[in-house]
Amino acid sequence: MVRETWATRVGFILAAVGSAVGLGNIWRFPFITGQEGGSAFLLVYLAFIALIGFPALLVEFVVGRRTELNPVGALQELGSGAWRYVGYLFVVTGFIILSYYSVVAGWFLRYTVIGVTDGYTASAASPDAAEALFGSVATGLDSLLFHALFMVLVVAIIAAGIRSGIEVAVKVMVPAIIVLLIGLAAYGFTLDASAEAYAYYLSPDFGVIAENWTSILPAAAGQAFFTLSLGMGVMITYASYLGEDRNLAEDAGIIVGLDTAIAVIVGFVVFPFLFAAGLTPGDGGAGEIFVSLTAAFAEIPAGRVIGTVFFAMVGIAALSSAISILEVLASYLMDEFGVDRVPAAAGLGVAVFVLGVPVTVDLVFLDLLDLFADSILLVLGALLLALFVGWVASDAAREELEIGIGDLGGLGEAWIWVVRIPVVVVVAVSLYLGVVEYAEFLTEDFADWLAAR
Ligand code: PHE
Repeated sequence: MVRETWATRVGFILAAVGSAVGLGNIWRFPFITGQEGGSAFLLVYLAFIALIGFPALLVEFVVGRRTELNPVGALQELGSGAWRYVGYLFVVTGFIILSYYSVVAGWFLRYTVIGVTDGYTASAASPDAAEALFGSVATGLDSLLFHALFMVLVVAIIAAGIRSGIEVAVKVMVPAIIVLLIGLAAYGFTLDASAEAYAYYLSPDFGVIAENWTSILPAAAGQAFFTLSLGMGVMITYASYLGEDRNLAEDAGIIVGLDTAIAVIVGFVVFPFLFAAGLTPGDGGAGEIFVSLTAAFAEIPAGRVIGTVFFAMVGIAALSSAISILEVLASYLMDEFGVDRVPAAAGLGVAVFVLGVPVTVDLVFLDLLDLFADSILLVLGALLLALFVGWVASDAAREELEIGIGDLGGLGEAWIWVVRIPVVVVVAVSLYLGVVEYAEFLTEDFADWLAAR
């Protein structure tokens, strides 16, 4: 079987941007920024993206392009001893993340439909109504059906392949996300509350940073990895379909730049909506954004249209991320077991769907999976890969990066050292804090939930 490749460079870049831009940019980023000190957090985050995220993205790219294999095969080919098994971690992580990501994405589809059928004015007229609406969307039969619908879309795109599936889909989806987002931000600007909202979002509070740096640093690091889809082999897999040798550093720069710009613009959308409805951003969380935004859409002029467009835009962004996760799993089955693309995509889709079912029954499973994947598995994956490429396979990595760029001289060496020390240290500290946080969750919230059974 000849391995497929991207038809165009733009196709590859858009696929990577599509993967990067997702729920992480849209509901996570603006709220973390709001909570962690506004533009002061933004500065730390931007520094992390450039200093840690960008080099780590290059790490995944060189591994993928060098081996032209899925993450399991790639690590088996490059590594020896225990390193040969690191790829399995990526596959497990992908399974877990996609299972709940699909449930949450299904909520966005459901909210889009609500906008079309009856608007948010009736269903979310009061905060209590908005809360009740979220309850009915998030769990139960509706949640299950929209989770299934979302997985069908993901499977359909992956089954169609790299060129006619992923590449075609992202060439429509990514421009659509950008256009819709800019339109929504422009609308947000016209709202009276926009000045107040921008001030909340952008006024730097360095006092907050000084006081809370122990929570800001890992939050910024975790967000940097999650938003760039690092730590589970997505970028390895996508780069493995690069047939020819391009300048990976340039591609990575474009991808990181677009992902960051989109995240920042989202803040210019979400905060004006909330302030216009007289709401102050609360402490985030899975339901919070749905409840407060639907309440906002019930208030603001043309809220029904704006809300429908907003939820649809998020649904599209989630879809372009979800396909990248299923492609990691599918490429593993195809490369390692010679399974054909269509049965691989369909079989995996069913398995992921089943794994996500508990989340549609009780939201405690969302926290259980999300915290585990997000603050432990992804970070562990990124750490192991940085250690491997920085300390074990650095010569091959540097050589691979230079293909398509030319002699990097000291820059190549600098990249390896950034990966060896700063990336490893930041990720290791985040991992430690992530484990502590997860242990707390298990012994407190989750234990309470179990005890109440
Ligand atoms: N980057 C995606 C987002 O911001 C999430 C993601 C993480 C996608 C890991 C794939 C792999 O929503």
